[in-house]
Amino acid sequence: MRGSGVTSIAHVSDLHLAPVPFPFGEGLKPALGWINWRRKPGAHDPALGLRVAAAVRAASPDHVALTGDLIELGLASEYGAAAEALAAFGPPCRLSWAPGNHDVYTARAVPRLRDGLGGWLAPEAAPQNDADIRGHFPRLVVTGRVALVTLCSGLPTWLFSAEGELGAAQLSRLDAMLSAIDRTAHLPVIAVHHPPHAPGLSPLKRLRDGQALMALLARHRCPLVLHGHLHRACEATTTIDGFAITLAGAPSASSAGHHGDDPAGYSLVQVDEALRWRIERHAV
Ligand SMILES: [Fe+2]
Ligand SMILES: [Fe+2]
Repeated sequence: MRGSGVTSIAHVSDLHLAPVPFPFGEGLKPALGWINWRRKPGAHDPALGLRVAAAVRAASPDHVALTGDLIELGLASEYGAAAEALAAFGPPCRLSWAPGNHDVYTARAVPRLRDGLGGWLAPEAAPQNDADIRGHFPRLVVTGRVALVTLCSGLPTWLFSAEGELGAAQLSRLDAMLSAIDRTAHLPVIAVHHPPHAPGLSPLKRLRDGQALMALLARHRCPLVLHGHLHRACEATTTIDGFAITLAGAPSASSAGHHGDDPAGYSLVQVDEALRWRIERHAV
């Protein structure tokens, strides 16, 4: 909390804003995505997302990490709603956003994302093609005792894929960024939509280069990853090359608790002056 000697990061994920308009003229993937969304009525309740936003504002964290899937299909109107939803959590300087597979649903969604959410993207470190926003990442925010590094695993994928990929260029920039963090003063915390290590997860939902990310994090001794995508309040510790890395998932912030998803909530990551961390779970 601000002024307490403890740095707090609110972890929020997977708002999946609803309702979702039918994607006329958008092609097959958005149409099938809309049918899939309709098959799960009531799974996501926008009122719960607003309650999470109010609870996070009341908790007054030093920063908010939102780990993706703000929307469903990449429609222009959805990005307008997403900008309003992000603003409910705080200004861009107090919120870092890690795009998910639904945020970068198709190639034609990318320019809309830049138009609607450009204020929430850091300047592009390495300009890439128009259908790739990963050049804006990683983003580093240093607040209190935390060096929060946000990654982009969202990219347009084929029809039935919810995969993510960081790409070699983003991993290379991450390598350089982590090398520059003063580890005596700051705890590196990674925020990314897809969990980099998730045994049993369908190959169609995985982070393609998760293993490379885990090896990089172990080499730089980064102990904590905040992720979304699974819609579960979960925590798993994996040892890579002798170093323990904890992967902490947040539930969907709008989940009504149906279809195997955990009910809505958020987490507060608390980091003390000795760089020890703990995670508090909050329901709404
Ligand atoms: Fe999601
Ligand atoms: Fe996802």
